[in-house]
Amino acid sequence: MSGGQHVATIDLAHDQAAVLADLISLDERFAAFALDSWTARKTTRLTLYLPSRPGRTRLGELDGLVRRAGNRSANFTVAPLPERDWVAEGLSGLPPVRAGRFLVHGRHVRSVRRANDIAIEIEAAQAFGTGHHGTTAGCLTAIEAALARRWTIRRAADIGTGTGLLAIAIARMAHVPVVATDIDPVATATARANARHNGVAAYVQAATAIGTGHALYRETGPFDLIVANILAGPLARLATDIRRIAAPGARIILSGLLPDQQRSVTAAYRNTGLRVAGARHVDGWLTLAFDRPHRQH
Ligand SMILES: C[S@@+](CC[C@H](N)C(=O)[O-])C[C@H]1O[C@@H](n2cnc3c(N)ncnc32)[C@H](O)[C@@H]1O
Repeated sequence: MSGGQHVATIDLAHDQAAVLADLISLDERFAAFALDSWTARKTTRLTLYLPSRPGRTRLGELDGLVRRAGNRSANFTVAPLPERDWVAEGLSGLPPVRAGRFLVHGRHVRSVRRANDIAIEIEAAQAFGTGHHGTTAGCLTAIEAALARRWTIRRAADIGTGTGLLAIAIARMAHVPVVATDIDPVATATARANARHNGVAAYVQAATAIGTGHALYRETGPFDLIVANILAGPLARLATDIRRIAAPGARIILSGLLPDQQRSVTAAYRNTGLRVAGARHVDGWLTLAFDRPHRQH
């Protein structure tokens, strides 16, 4: 492989794309590459992010998976990826973090905001979630990708909200109600204060709960977008509960995972009827995306 970051894309019938996404996600040769899927009316586009231009062997491997997914003629198209997506800029204190359109920064670096940014101000506090961790950054880019393509989001949930950053990001971008819960009451209070500080108190409802064990989930669900940045063990145990609060067509984003936990967590969520929709790696941490199919019993 050579050159800078590249993307490989392919448009397939929904069923074939779902099979191919599974094959890629479970294939060790592609474990280090982020995968995203975008469902249009007739086809699904899969996008694989590669660190450099793939050579003939790698393309042959990919096309081999396309054949295994049941398509005899389609091939991946490869193009350079314009500009990297998120960078940390080296200012004093905690530097601001860019993740797609989101800019997460402390009070001391407001000046770096640009016109098109969705700027979120979070101070490093007692709760987890300033955007500097690979799991949070992976969730932010996955949230942006999901929201940029889905216009029918009515409500969202952030399980293990910490500072509330992910809930605030969703509320700022999509202007929909977000239930934000955490097992830790200090985190819940921090999330509430941060939502107020960022002008989305009317959208973010913060509460203390283990997993989905709060009446808010029953009373205000189902949810079209669910994020949970916890850890592999609790996430695997929460699979059925999370599937239960997911609306048909929902996107579920999970993080807090190490690459070697991909198989077990993927299996737990696929067993509930969810489909793999993507995987991205940031700083050695894995973020997974799943979709609940529109039609399912
Ligand atoms: C890695 S931090 C994520 C914070 C923030 N969402 C982010 O992405 O930066 C995980 C958070 O989940 C909370 N947590 C851990 N186990 C949980 C559980 N079973 N139910 C709800 N929250 C949990 C922790 O208290 C912590 O605030």
